[in-house]
Amino acid sequence: MESSEFQQLNYFCLNQKLDATLEWIDNQYWLHSDDPKENPIGIKIDHELARHEEFFKHASLLKELLARAVGVKSGIRPQILDLTGGLLGDSLLFLSFGCEVVTLERHPIVAFLIQSALKNAHHCALSRFKFIATDAATFLAQNPPLEVIFFDPMFEDANEKAMPKKEMRIFRSFVGSDQDAKAIFQLAKSLKPKRLVIKRPRLSIGLSQKADLVFEGKATRYDVYFSP
Ligand SMILES: C[S@@+](CC[C@H](N)C(=O)[O-])C[C@H]1O[C@@H](n2cnc3c(N)ncnc32)[C@H](O)[C@@H]1O
Repeated sequence: MESSEFQQLNYFCLNQKLDATLEWIDNQYWLHSDDPKENPIGIKIDHELARHEEFFKHASLLKELLARAVGVKSGIRPQILDLTGGLLGDSLLFLSFGCEVVTLERHPIVAFLIQSALKNAHHCALSRFKFIATDAATFLAQNPPLEVIFFDPMFEDANEKAMPKKEMRIFRSFVGSDQDAKAIFQLAKSLKPKRLVIKRPRLSIGLSQKADLVFEGKATRYDVYFSP
């Protein structure tokens, strides 16, 4: 990365009073909180993909809730547009299911962490991956949707009682709470992808009307909307 871009982003951290700085560890950038007890935030892409690969050698992919929600079936691997990259947890799972994935992220620091992690990654599944640092609204206005649109905003509602994990709290403190989530949902739905999948905390209200299909896990729920 250009050192000027790095300086700009660290200045952005300072300016936003993030109490965190970007640090170079093991060939990529991580976001390090000023609290030495916190783990640095970033993504070890090759490690995560290898971990999923190992897991799915023993577990049935077709029983995986997320795989079922996005429509993975025997011999079917849909193309997925992940509107909300974050720390790529879901995108890397989609890749390990065997799907082609396009992922978006609008927050400059998060996008920077993703780009830095990608430069440090070599896994063959990444040949099916494309990352674009942009806002979902801009992208959707200019591109046809893929078969499946996946959306996992930070949006909170009054029903959300459980405290998010510590790392997610720090993440939330600088990314914010995606207040435009309902508008993005409506925009994505208006483009009529085969499936629109919304990830929500299990007990929270939906982003809109009742979903056509719901997959409920212990902590997470996937609301699925089909287009005719
Ligand atoms: C809850 S996190 C996503 C977590 C991700 N699914 C994972 O597994 O790591 C939400 C992320 O989406 C990004 N985001 C929210 N709304 C967005 C939008 N309209 N366009 C692009 N990125 C968005 C936020 O900046 C944040 O990084």
